[in-house]
Amino acid sequence: MKEKISSLLAEIENIKAENAEQLEALRIKYLSKKGEVTALFSDFKSVPAEQKKEMGALLNDLKNKATEKIAELKAKFEGEKQAEEKIDVTRTPDPIEIGTRHPLSIVKNKIADIFSRIGFTIAEGPEIEDDWHVFSALNFPPEHPARDMQDTFFITKSPDVVLRTHTSSVQTRVMTSQKPPIRVLCPGRVYRNEAISYRAHCFFHQVEGLYIDKNISFADLKQALLYFAKEMFGEETAIRLRPSYFPFTEPSAEMDISCNICGGKGCAFCKNTGWVEILGCGMVDPAVLESCGIDSKVYSGYAFGMGVERITNLKYRVKDLRMFSENDVRFLDQFKSAY
Ligand code: DAH
Repeated sequence: MKEKISSLLAEIENIKAENAEQLEALRIKYLSKKGEVTALFSDFKSVPAEQKKEMGALLNDLKNKATEKIAELKAKFEGEKQAEEKIDVTRTPDPIEIGTRHPLSIVKNKIADIFSRIGFTIAEGPEIEDDWHVFSALNFPPEHPARDMQDTFFITKSPDVVLRTHTSSVQTRVMTSQKPPIRVLCPGRVYRNEAISYRAHCFFHQVEGLYIDKNISFADLKQALLYFAKEMFGEETAIRLRPSYFPFTEPSAEMDISCNICGGKGCAFCKNTGWVEILGCGMVDPAVLESCGIDSKVYSGYAFGMGVERITNLKYRVKDLRMFSENDVRFLDQFKSAY
């Protein structure tokens, strides 16, 4: 009996249970009415009288140790269960990693915001367009190089359906569907069949502006553009308008801003000129107004168009255009605080 007690004792000291069910099975095995420890108590009756004292003590000790061990394991499981159930509802949640706005969206929104303050609203048009809205209505002669296969992505030929090469097509859409006064800003993606490099891509983004009303002059255009340049690049920014040519404006100009990197002193970025070109503009050609059904004797207007990538490069010094479409989060993450 002594041996049985010591072997059970060793066994019980080493019992392990992985869950409450296993533990209950162990309790039944040792301590229930038919359990092994309980069975020893029945055998106790047949122990000779002179050994009863010693055996009794050993037996009680075994029973106590078994009860303790089972209670100890039980407490452990209950503790774990309680910990699982205890949810601190007052704890602030882990911060969620939020994404960033794309730099081109940041700049596009900023342009829209600046012009919305002087009454421009947003107008959008389709990226897949017909020749008339992209070229003919805008006074492009039939043999103009922009219509060439090398520049324009054609979807179908005769009728010519193309991917728009500029957002000036939205001007056509607005002028044919609204009556003056018209004051719209048209942001959007445009496509050109160009080899992809650090400075050219087959798609990019433009923002077009159009203002048509009675008595609109070149002075109004210049004032609006000066306001834009200062809001976008800082109060100290100067502008310069150079004569240029676009089929849809007459007169036409290109606008430079004083180089915002060297402050106009001359640096590698502005090729030592102190100026950088940012947009094309002009007075809407009367022929364009007429082809869109607007009386050019009553109304006049100005238009301008700029590349969002170009403005973004100037603002954030992004040297390679391809980065805008690569979706590299290491690049995008750097614009977290920009909006
Ligand atoms: N559409 C021209 C381009 O893609 C940009 C432009 C120039 C738009 C002059 C205009 C404008 O509205 O008046 O290069």
